[in-house]
Amino acid sequence: MTATHTNGHTNIDDLIAAHKPGHSLDQRFYVDPDVYELELERIINRNWILAGHQSQLPNAGDYKVMKVGRESAIIVRGKDGDIRAFANVCRHRGSLVCLEAHGNTRKFTCPYHGWVYDTDGKLIGARDMPEDFDWDAHGLLPVSCEVIHGLIFLSFSDNPPSVENCRKELAEPMGQFDFPNLKVAAYKEYPIPANWKLSIENYQECYHCATAHPDYARMHTLMLDRKKRERVQGHMKERMEACGLRDIYIDRIDTAARPGEIGYGYSRTALFDGYKTGSRDGSPVAPLLGELTDYDGGASDFSFGAFSFLLAYSDHVVAYVFSPVDKDNSRCDIYWLVRGDAEEGKDYDVDELTWLWDVTTEADKTIIVNNFKGVRSRFYRPGPFSGMERAEKTYVDWLLQELARP
Ligand code: FES
Ligand SMILES: [Fe+2]
Repeated sequence: MTATHTNGHTNIDDLIAAHKPGHSLDQRFYVDPDVYELELERIINRNWILAGHQSQLPNAGDYKVMKVGRESAIIVRGKDGDIRAFANVCRHRGSLVCLEAHGNTRKFTCPYHGWVYDTDGKLIGARDMPEDFDWDAHGLLPVSCEVIHGLIFLSFSDNPPSVENCRKELAEPMGQFDFPNLKVAAYKEYPIPANWKLSIENYQECYHCATAHPDYARMHTLMLDRKKRERVQGHMKERMEACGLRDIYIDRIDTAARPGEIGYGYSRTALFDGYKTGSRDGSPVAPLLGELTDYDGGASDFSFGAFSFLLAYSDHVVAYVFSPVDKDNSRCDIYWLVRGDAEEGKDYDVDELTWLWDVTTEADKTIIVNNFKGVRSRFYRPGPFSGMERAEKTYVDWLLQELARP
């Protein structure tokens, strides 16, 4: 498919050219199947997506399955200790091979005709095949997989964007929270019956926080205008160093000048006074992370490419992954991470740990679905972004840039 592909109504090139800068997208970006096909090719399958943390696969043979759009991957720790990913597609006649979401195994057996693959993807069993059958040529196809400071990322492209600068530059901020040694204390999937872009666009702005998230808005200062935020930010920065955190700011989100590389970023934002972490009342919910010696009253935002965002409080990390299911459905996967040596029941309580972002995400789901309903109306017109939607403007511009890039 090319950028000039049409369905008789829509020329995608023209649609991109007609976009009014600083405005939300034309309706066709959310409803047109041709746009979704092009997104699969140029954005969804091309980019990296967070698929979990290495602590979820501690032993050889531990595996998990990750679905993104039309693709499904098996991520497995091999006998040699390395984490790899394979397309969950049988090399016989294409059935899904692994139907379990996670587990431990020595081999994967296709449920259709019983072909068997080992944890390195190699075909090791197939009944009644001809003498000259080439076993080596029929292993599971590899999916690009990178472990970045403990986080597992997948890309369904054979030539994915480079992650090397991201790995290098984020080593220091991620090191402060000891990302490689975190563990997943809780995980939840939120199905969102709305186009995937609306799910991510909503995460890009906090213009809606004051109206949609009373609990979040009590503690997070992102909904303040710039001046007010600078004041609280100053207080946090004074505390940061004493708490063991360095003042780091990284903005490599916009990849216009660096095509072929993942976009990434890091920043730390103050919570309101009195809030130590993102919890029901701002009191600690888990032991301090990594090098931290005390609560500075801040929360760090990490972003990795188009779909994966992490929020590092002083005592836990919340990782959000937004992915398309199909044109009309998306999913948000949330991982709550704590220190690897923290014990459930003693050091943290899962209900308290997950409370804030569970209520916030449920509320987001409602507003995103309402947004999708309105966007499909014949009365929808692209509307102007506010000053608090700058990141969303960057995101929309990036989407259009990627969609136009052959
Ligand atoms: S499709 Fe998998 S064994 Fe036939
Ligand atoms: Fe929200």
